[in-house]
Amino acid sequence: MVKKKACIFISGSGTNLKSIIKSTRDYNFPINIELVISNKKTAKGINYAKKYSIPYQTITDKKKFEHFALRIIRLKKIQIICLAGFMRVLSKDFVRKFKGKIINIHPSLLPKFKGLDTFNRVLKAKEKFTGCTVHFVNEKLDNGKIIIKKKIAINKFFDEKELKNSVQILEYKAYSEAIRKIYSFS
Ligand code: GAR
Repeated sequence: MVKKKACIFISGSGTNLKSIIKSTRDYNFPINIELVISNKKTAKGINYAKKYSIPYQTITDKKKFEHFALRIIRLKKIQIICLAGFMRVLSKDFVRKFKGKIINIHPSLLPKFKGLDTFNRVLKAKEKFTGCTVHFVNEKLDNGKIIIKKKIAINKFFDEKELKNSVQILEYKAYSEAIRKIYSFS
């Protein structure tokens, strides 16, 4: 059984990264995290890479990000890129180079609420349900083929923070489930 070599892109707290790391401890989980790349020096998620001895790279230069990322990804023979709270839009060129090999998690039931400030917009719209979506990344923002969606009912007393907490608990399950779904060994 050969696990696929994955790189996780992060920008922030990295709690999705942490949950994927936990899943990789399972012998049957189909990927191994060979690299973490952050575009923010201050991203707390880098601490998970350190804690679990995963090689990591911080690339803060906006213009050179993709160039350097590509170099190290090729060097390490990365086969899959997982965006986990990576808050930058990748160029069309980059996405084309890794067509079908980049996946992302978004904190809404896509195609609803693409883009930023999701929880606030969901609450303002008085939605009854929300959730998260894991999808393939294509050239359009939050638009690629959906792998998994998970849904929760919105408690009408929820504020933004509570909604975020509830959705993120779903995300941890959804991301690993999606990875198993598309990469599991047959
Ligand atoms: C997650 O909720 C993820 O869905 C969201 O950022 C958060 C990152 O949390 N991503 C987006 O909004 C992408 N458009 P984490 O850094 O703790 O995993």
